[in-house]
Amino acid sequence: MADDPLLRTVNVKKHFGGVVALDGVSIDVEPAKVTMLIGPNGSGKSTLINVIGGALKPDGGQVIYGGDDITGLPPHKRYALGIVRTFQVPKPFRSLSVLENMLTASRIRLDDSAAKILFSSKWEFEEKRLIEKAFEILKLLNIDHLWDARSDQLSGGQMKLLEMGRALMSDPKLLLLDEPVAGVNPTLAHDIMSHIVKLRDEMGLTFLIVEHRLDITLRYVDKVYAMHQGRIISSGSPSDVMSDPHVIEAYLGD
Ligand SMILES: Nc1ncnc2c1ncn2[C@@H]1O[C@H](COP(=O)(O)OP(=O)(O)O)[C@@H](O)[C@H]1O
Ligand SMILES: [Mg+2]
Repeated sequence: MADDPLLRTVNVKKHFGGVVALDGVSIDVEPAKVTMLIGPNGSGKSTLINVIGGALKPDGGQVIYGGDDITGLPPHKRYALGIVRTFQVPKPFRSLSVLENMLTASRIRLDDSAAKILFSSKWEFEEKRLIEKAFEILKLLNIDHLWDARSDQLSGGQMKLLEMGRALMSDPKLLLLDEPVAGVNPTLAHDIMSHIVKLRDEMGLTFLIVEHRLDITLRYVDKVYAMHQGRIISSGSPSDVMSDPHVIEAYLGD
């Protein structure tokens, strides 16, 4: 039998005025797998990610994480449970170096007040430990040589890797990635997807990804959900979903 899902949405509904963005969406996200949400523009993908991350409250249905109902939890409590999202447009602190950006993203900054960290005798030890951890992650993402570069000097793809590195500093369990390879050249896009697979295999991380560049990403993915007009219209292996007439029709009709 398969593992219990790490995350489930059960019949999630969300409307904006008269627009039905999510019309009863149920998905299972299996642990240590890469699950991808696809669908034409306006099909409800970002809304679903926002409901899972806690930025939006659904009008109905549940979000279940590790067996617990987290539908009512605010985003920072979900973050503390290991649900971390990245954004389509990365938002590093541009005047800080890559390493400094990694350090500001570590969970300790959020759990303790900055003053408490700065004036505690623990600080030096913690700082050292965090720097080591940051370097390990930068190495895993092959950007450790850029540790001292200012973040605004990075290419778009490198910035996406830094965004992922920042997410990893917080010891996430479930990463919600909104278009991780949008606007990135094909070589680097494959590189980013390979890193995602490596993080899945080596650290057991779970990914839920929204992405439009199916030509590049599908081969790296374990399971696909296709959305259209706020509903799941198909799910399964990438090849099953891409050959499903409902999916082809949904893309052609838009
Ligand atoms: N904040 C909002 N206010 C009003 N309508 C919204 C809002 N966010 C999304 N929508 C609408 O909900 C539907 C789903 O949008 P979205 O989840 O962004 O789709 P996708 O990410 O698949 O392109 C669309 O019709 C969109 O216009
Ligand atoms: Mg979107």
